Amino acid sequence: MGGRPPVGARPARRRSIWPAGMWAGALAVTAMLFVACGSHATKASGSIAASSSAEDANLVAGDFPNINTMTPVGDHFVTNVRGHLDEALAVARSPQGGLYPVGTIIQLVPQEAMVKRAPGFSPSTKDWEFFSLDVSPTGTKILSRGGAEVLNRFGGSCSGCHGAAQPAFDFVCGQDHGCAPLPIGADVIKALQVADPRPR
Ligand code: HEC
Repeated sequence: MGGRPPVGARPARRRSIWPAGMWAGALAVTAMLFVACGSHATKASGSIAASSSAEDANLVAGDFPNINTMTPVGDHFVTNVRGHLDEALAVARSPQGGLYPVGTIIQLVPQEAMVKRAPGFSPSTKDWEFFSLDVSPTGTKILSRGGAEVLNRFGGSCSGCHGAAQPAFDFVCGQDHGCAPLPIGADVIKALQVADPRPR
């Protein structure tokens, strides 16, 4: 490697003062835990498999809203860019779980998102596309995206952690679906959510 990093590379520290600093600071300590979950690739690519004519949600950066404009469910936020919000919320609120409809975006923090793609997009991640995002007052930038190869900015595999969720919950960890808990407290998560710098 050398020269200019590819679009999918993890970013250097260069984000805005408080939210990103806090994000980095709060989590730097736990980087080793994330790495312990992590895996095999350093870079994500955009497309996993071409899908047929089925409805899909191949999003661009501008499709990601300020998370505070999404619908809160528990400690995270849900929306659907294909008009299936009611169905998505029914799954999100069901104690039995269920499969999310195509076009669902779920976020816990502004910097990470999972998006439900068309059937066949990425069978190993139940067709979830994982995103690592950079957010600022000017909007959203996609740092990396894809299926099981996507890592967060601490080197942790999204799929490695979320794949541990009980199958009924469709890769959503929540607090009691079988994933290892995140090593940050609810107060830090809340602060990151409130500090989403993007326009509302
Ligand atoms: C170290 C394990 C781990 C890694 C790595 C990880 N997550 Fe998570 N994630 C969790 C856990 C645990 C929760 C639930 C936290 C809570 O509700 O308190 C969660 C919550 C979420 C949520 C809210 C819905 C849910 O599952 O509860 C989204 C969306 C999400 N993560 C996306 C991502 C994305 C995208 C990546 C990679 C860029 C990623 N995560 C990396 C463990 C992880």
